[in-house]
Amino acid sequence: MPYYIQRGEVPSKRHIQFLRPDGALYSEEVFGTEGFAGPSSTLYHIHPPTQVSGWRALHSTAPEYVETDVLRMRHLQSWKFTAKGDPVSGRRVILGNADVEMSLCQPAEQMAYHFKNAQGDECLYIHFGTGFVRSLFGTLAFKPHDFIVIPRGTIYSMEFDRLADSDRPTDTTQTDMPYGKFVCFEAVNGSHVLPPARYVSKKTSQFLEDAPYCERDLRVPHMPLSYDERGSFEVRIKALNRMHSYDFDYHPLDVIGWDGCYYPYCFNALEFQPLVGMVHLPPPIHQVFEAHNFVICAFCPRPLDFHPKAIPIPYNHSNIDSDEVMYYAAGNYKARRGIEVGSISLHPLGIPHGPHPGTIEQSLGKTHTDELAIMCDTFRPLMPTKEAIALDDGAYPNSWKDLSRKDLSVKDEHFKRLITPTGPTFSR
Ligand SMILES: [Fe+2]
Repeated sequence: MPYYIQRGEVPSKRHIQFLRPDGALYSEEVFGTEGFAGPSSTLYHIHPPTQVSGWRALHSTAPEYVETDVLRMRHLQSWKFTAKGDPVSGRRVILGNADVEMSLCQPAEQMAYHFKNAQGDECLYIHFGTGFVRSLFGTLAFKPHDFIVIPRGTIYSMEFDRLADSDRPTDTTQTDMPYGKFVCFEAVNGSHVLPPARYVSKKTSQFLEDAPYCERDLRVPHMPLSYDERGSFEVRIKALNRMHSYDFDYHPLDVIGWDGCYYPYCFNALEFQPLVGMVHLPPPIHQVFEAHNFVICAFCPRPLDFHPKAIPIPYNHSNIDSDEVMYYAAGNYKARRGIEVGSISLHPLGIPHGPHPGTIEQSLGKTHTDELAIMCDTFRPLMPTKEAIALDDGAYPNSWKDLSRKDLSVKDEHFKRLITPTGPTFSR
């Protein structure tokens, strides 16, 4: 929702008569937020959007957290995750708090209904798979490493293509993946998932020249937009921590045109323009989105720090007031013990974290990284669910133990020069 666009047909002014070809009026809907003072769009429906019936409550959507008093690092082996449900019913929350819920989904079937999340914005990260999001605002084609931001209230369905064998992960044993796999970050505190405020002009909301992405990198909805069909259509609405089913007697994507600043869009993580420093730069340089009390970052392939004595991996650091979740999406993680593509690490507030023993020395002299990881930092502790415990690698907290520095062997002559006092020094 960063900037104004228009799709389809709209009348010349807001709130005036807009006639269908048969002479009847289109039904205008102002799709507003924050008491009509926040981002909004104005939609024109073939049918009045108020015609809903047949409602019934289906099931609770409130996560059940466990081990809420346990403070420890976690490693969730998400390659053990199995296919289940469709792109909505198959979502299983693994970590969450009062601000954000993080779920995994590996669909086993297509959606036979449309969905509206009336509780919060969704930010999906597509790890594997391609397909389409068909929404009130038009169609989005998605591909691996796309973030799909779907603002609260949007009616949509997700349609995955069947995953080709050549597109499956090759470095894990995960085979139960008929369509793909994605991560969902859902804002559950009423805030919106937005580009960081510091990336856009305060005066015009245009992306600034030093922002790591801009309007051209955002893929906005395109046609087809409108389905003029009569029949029986189910729309499932998530609200009040419960899924509800509603019956529509017309296709719910019946918008003939709309304009505004509130709509879903895609941004591919590989379009992020990483910043690189002479010495190591902190995680905020990797930030892609933010909402109240959490941020989403992408660590993308990039050149590494260029000081001759740079240590090109993170220093030990304390999340004094935040929890940190990393989802390792692509690249070579062999330098991190036990971490593979599909690993999820949770480093909670209260315990410092950093490179595994020996990995600092191994990193010296490296000039680039091919890693791609997605991070969510939260300002309140994250709790695991039973789904997370089922993926938990209990040995992970001990993976920082046991190597003393004298056990480290620096075999490469280049690395030896870099870490000895007689090695090259940096001069201006
Ligand atoms: Fe960290």
